[in-house]
Amino acid sequence: MTEKSVEAKGICKMYKSLLGSSTTILDNISLDIEAGEIFGLLGPNGSGKTTLISIFSTLIYPEAGSLFILGMNARRDKGEIRKVINISTAKPNFPWSLTVRENLRHYGMLYGLYGSDLSRTVDDQIEAFELGDFRDKRFEDLSTGIKQRLSLAKAMLNHPRLLFLDEPTTGLDPDISMKTRMLVKRIHEEENISVILSTHYMPEAEMLCDRIAFLRKGRIVAMDTPRNLKKHLCLGERVVISYQGQADTAAIEKLPGILGLKAQKGRVEISIDRGEESLDQIIKLFSGAKILDIDIKEPDLEDVFIELAR
Ligand SMILES: Nc1ncnc2c1ncn2[C@@H]1O[C@H](COP(=O)(O)OP(=O)(O)OP(=O)(O)O)[C@@H](O)[C@H]1O
Ligand SMILES: [Mg+2]
Repeated sequence: MTEKSVEAKGICKMYKSLLGSSTTILDNISLDIEAGEIFGLLGPNGSGKTTLISIFSTLIYPEAGSLFILGMNARRDKGEIRKVINISTAKPNFPWSLTVRENLRHYGMLYGLYGSDLSRTVDDQIEAFELGDFRDKRFEDLSTGIKQRLSLAKAMLNHPRLLFLDEPTTGLDPDISMKTRMLVKRIHEEENISVILSTHYMPEAEMLCDRIAFLRKGRIVAMDTPRNLKKHLCLGERVVISYQGQADTAAIEKLPGILGLKAQKGRVEISIDRGEESLDQIIKLFSGAKILDIDIKEPDLEDVFIELAR
């Protein structure tokens, strides 16, 4: 049986102020992440995502709880764990005056590579992450997108079994963000690794993650697949009807299962919690009008986020 990527039970993290008072940053976090999963951490600013990633990647210790990473004890076996994990964060910072190739060689050496192994691995990563045109450019002269790609290439140098990505697309334009997401998807598929990523972008979580945990004030307030999260929160499907003529929109609001309604001339937007039954009754109220278009939209994660962040 393959071991889980993460087995965390009752993780608590506190920070003490200079005056001695302590603040709880993570409160009783328990979660299991299966091998091969892409697991998303979502939550408002300051909810504890980076702190949790720092704990899972053995950079800091929790005050309480037990933690196993890839079947190894996070405190006792941190040396072994660090050989098989890696991390890439938003706005990466590398030695500024070193080129892309020199930076990758620098990290490769830190990971114990040397000689022809080091050169081959660095060249492979330059090719895999399409960094060939930038290999001799200094870090300080790179665009934000290329810096992020270099950071991902660096994170794959040791062929990790578990990759941490803390906001991998923050600060990138929509096009480069999408390319970065595709890259993460490709790495995950080709290398068959587990990925734990934090993000503020709902489409990113929806596109990449098998499961998501929502953090709020250091606690997990929901954890499930993106699809189930939307379902369990009873966020309604949104039905938009465009029409010509007269329709009794006030009567729609009184129908069972209607969560909300916005009406304007020729267009009504309805939130319903039970698909077809209510839809059938809604349509009947348009008998005196000509329906031009019906658009039915599932709720997206953005709605889930707003609901949970409250
Ligand atoms: N070294 C530290 N000392 C004291 N408090 C800290 C320290 N590091 C983080 N915190 C606090 O812990 C809380 C959680 O921070 P964290 O960076 O984990 O949140 P986050 O969810 O990653 O936020 P963001 O979305 O803004 O990146 C914040 O209130 C932060 O101020
Ligand atoms: Mg953070």
